[in-house]
Amino acid sequence: MFLQRPWAWLQNEITTRARNFILKVLAAGPIPRHVAFVMDGNRRYARMHHKAVQQGHSDGFVALRRMLEACLRLNVRCVSAYAFSIENFKRSEEEVNALMAMAEEKLVELCGHGDLLDEYGVRLNVIGKQELLPASVQAAVAKAEGMTAHNTRAIFNLCMPYTSRDEITTAVQKCVRESKDCCISEKDIDAALMTSLGGSPPLDILVRTSGVKRLSDFLLWQCCEDTQLQFSSTYWPDFGLFDFIPIILDYQRKVWSKSR
Ligand code: FPP
Ligand code: MG
Repeated sequence: MFLQRPWAWLQNEITTRARNFILKVLAAGPIPRHVAFVMDGNRRYARMHHKAVQQGHSDGFVALRRMLEACLRLNVRCVSAYAFSIENFKRSEEEVNALMAMAEEKLVELCGHGDLLDEYGVRLNVIGKQELLPASVQAAVAKAEGMTAHNTRAIFNLCMPYTSRDEITTAVQKCVRESKDCCISEKDIDAALMTSLGGSPPLDILVRTSGVKRLSDFLLWQCCEDTQLQFSSTYWPDFGLFDFIPIILDYQRKVWSKSR
């Protein structure tokens, strides 16, 4: 036991240094402005590892922190993550309550002094139909957003409870309400979308994990002609830098081939 500890420390140190070196090398090339994650596969991961569903979601949160930090180190300006679809309210009460409790606890923690969002100057936007969230979660969201509202270096859009059709419908309704001549342009809708908060740049990469190839009503307006869609077979809680590197390299190859 005593002898094992220095090896564990050394192994950890080497992994951290290797990871930082790789991120530095990658950051020297073209970097996507906006990366979005459909964090899928938490329950299958839990089943595979004989863990409770809640543990799957909790490990999923650890993966979210990991990928958020990797993106921030790469100087990605905006990260969006699909944490809870409006459709997810149809899941069991136990699972929904566990996800809500996690949001209530983790959001304020993530925005706290010295924590990830504070360290990298990130503004948190919780995007979606917030009125569907329990009052205690709405209060935590307001507190967490308030703690980072002054940050301007990067944006983190946590989408919950969200669907793209709801976002687009809400944006169109807002445009109709505010329009004087009923002439609504693409630009007006763009500006009324929830992702316009803080000015999210165009979506360059959308990643969905767990081998499922669907968009599931996520950022449908934002997925444009140039968005690179990436489907990874890894379950979200296991998703890490080594799944992400080939995705970034693909993006860099595409940018370099266009500029030739
Ligand atoms: C999809 O996997 C995942 C979710 C519905 C929840 C994702 C949420 C997190 C990773 C944490 C979010 C962070 C906060 C602060 C709330 P699934 O449940 O559909 O799994 P399956 O595809 O294997 O069934
Ligand atoms: Mg799923």
